[in-house]
Amino acid sequence: MYRLGDVLITRERIGEMVKCLAGRIKEDYAGKEILLVGVLKGAMIFLSDLCRAIDLPCVLDFIIVSSYGVDAQSSGVVLLRKDIDEDIAGKHVLVVEDIIDTGITLNFLKGVFEARKPASLKLCAAFDKYSRRVVDLTPDYVGMQIEDNFIVGYGLDYAGMYRNLPEVRILHNV
Ligand code: IMP
Ligand code: MG
Repeated sequence: MYRLGDVLITRERIGEMVKCLAGRIKEDYAGKEILLVGVLKGAMIFLSDLCRAIDLPCVLDFIIVSSYGVDAQSSGVVLLRKDIDEDIAGKHVLVVEDIIDTGITLNFLKGVFEARKPASLKLCAAFDKYSRRVVDLTPDYVGMQIEDNFIVGYGLDYAGMYRNLPEVRILHNV
């Protein structure tokens, strides 16, 4: 049984976080075109906010992976269910993820994209549960570090639900 808890991160703090990340990205990629790759479905809402805060030429593409089943535990196995459409060779690729937990998903995607010889490859996540990392992965941009809690909202789901919550809440296991 799960119970939806109090607000952990408000809409206002999320807005500030996005603005801050976008500012750093604009500076780092000045004069370049970015290929933003959103990891669906979780990154959908974060990416739509982030891309509108970056006034640089950019192309959006999406990838679908699944690493979680219907439970809140990672299976540790990443399935690539839909690849991107763009050829990324010679492009500046920024992968945008909702949250990094064990790091297995982003690490897997890093390997997939590096093999395709982009001009550069960087990783961005809205939230990071650093204490849960099982692989050696350091993202280039992180919106917020969070404690080891299962969170939902702002694109993050539990069994497909709660993605549409405008703020982030803890889901308690009761
Ligand atoms: P990782 O491969 O363990 O880093 O897990 C990353 C994926 O697990 C993310 O893309 C999320 O879809 C999911 N995930 C990890 N932690 C949470 C959470 O607290 N809430 C919702 N989804 C999560
Ligand atoms: Mg998910």
